[in-house]
Amino acid sequence: MNAMLENPRDPRPRDLLGRPLHDLRVSVIETCNYRCPYCMPEGSTPEETALDRARRLSFVEIEATVRAFVRVGAGKIRLTGGEPLLRKNLPVLVARLAAIPGVEDLALTTNGSLLAAQAQALRDAGLHRITVSLDALDPAIFRTLSGGRGEVADVLAGIAAAESAGFSAIKLNCVVQRGINEDQVLPLVERFRGSGHVLRFIEYMDVGTCNGWRRDAVVPSRELRDRISERWPLQAVSPSYRGEVASRHAFVDGAGEIGFVSSVSEPFCGDCHRARLSADGRLFTCLFASQGHDLRSALADGEDALATRVAELWRGRSDRYSEQRSAAATRPGKKIEMYFIGG
Ligand code: GTP
Ligand code: 5AD
Ligand code: SF4
Ligand code: SF4
Repeated sequence: MNAMLENPRDPRPRDLLGRPLHDLRVSVIETCNYRCPYCMPEGSTPEETALDRARRLSFVEIEATVRAFVRVGAGKIRLTGGEPLLRKNLPVLVARLAAIPGVEDLALTTNGSLLAAQAQALRDAGLHRITVSLDALDPAIFRTLSGGRGEVADVLAGIAAAESAGFSAIKLNCVVQRGINEDQVLPLVERFRGSGHVLRFIEYMDVGTCNGWRRDAVVPSRELRDRISERWPLQAVSPSYRGEVASRHAFVDGAGEIGFVSSVSEPFCGDCHRARLSADGRLFTCLFASQGHDLRSALADGEDALATRVAELWRGRSDRYSEQRSAAATRPGKKIEMYFIGG
């Protein structure tokens, strides 16, 4: 234990860089109905198998794991995938997690393709917030960016259904790639300004190894901010909580706000309080980790044993990949793919 960094008024364990655990991202499924080239390019993964399904944690196991993480400090839970709405009966899991004392925030990240049919059930089950990925409004560009599998109209219908079901301030994530969907930025801003939803532009990251990432495909947030500001002036807004991933900017004319996630140009590892659980029960302490820590055996020993194991693993954590990347000291070798551990 790094006793120097523990705070007597905050019993949460600290990692080797003094960061407490605050968020847990739970991947409920490692497959997707899209093949976004920056995440799961066509041909990079075999289609889902029965073996994959058998390896996934059950809802009972996920609930027990979340309870253990809550005891170690994670009050903020986000369900992700792959595409989480492909997991059968997801609202049943949502209801179980929403009922855990200490779960203060329960959110979902989805590609939105199946949201229209499920938004109301998710709301009724107690889901607090939704984030939808939306890389383009133009149907042809959208289709290409989904690997030829998605229709933007379905996603827009999903967003509308979520709104009708009572979700507000829906976050919309757009990963911007140079020369691919840059021209979608202003139309997206125009469409969602004044809607009450929060569009966020994300720098294309070198997650995993199958996307063939190149730095020159990254559009720095600074550049987008200037471009948007020329048309609709923006002003910076303070973060809504410590360690917020997106930097917030409000439209000067009062039409709401947008955000920028700048992990490449302005890394935010210093305040990273996020742990990630893969669908097969491994803990990843960084989005760019090459290996996870299997939690199944501690889980089999019960919630106490699991909470102890999680605290021990968290205390040994020293990840700060994005900061090291910007110092040109990237770790060589294999990294986990984004579709395994979600966004
Ligand atoms: P809230 O503020 O709770 O709404 O969520 P969030 O900002 O954490 O949002 P979200 O999970 O939608 O994250 C947005 C995107 O930021 C993700 O899809 C990732 O691309 C990126 N991101 C999130 N967390 C991390 C992280 O820990 N490291 C890096 N490098 N990128 C991250
Ligand atoms: N770079 C940045 N964001 C990514 N996502 C997936 N792959 C990448 C990448 N290479 C994000 C998208 C999507 C979320 C699930 O993960 O924002 O909305
Ligand atoms: Fe699927 Fe999301 Fe990955 Fe696209 S980014 S392939 S929608 S998991
Ligand atoms: Fe956290 Fe790793 Fe992302 Fe840095 S690169 S913010 S340590 S998940």
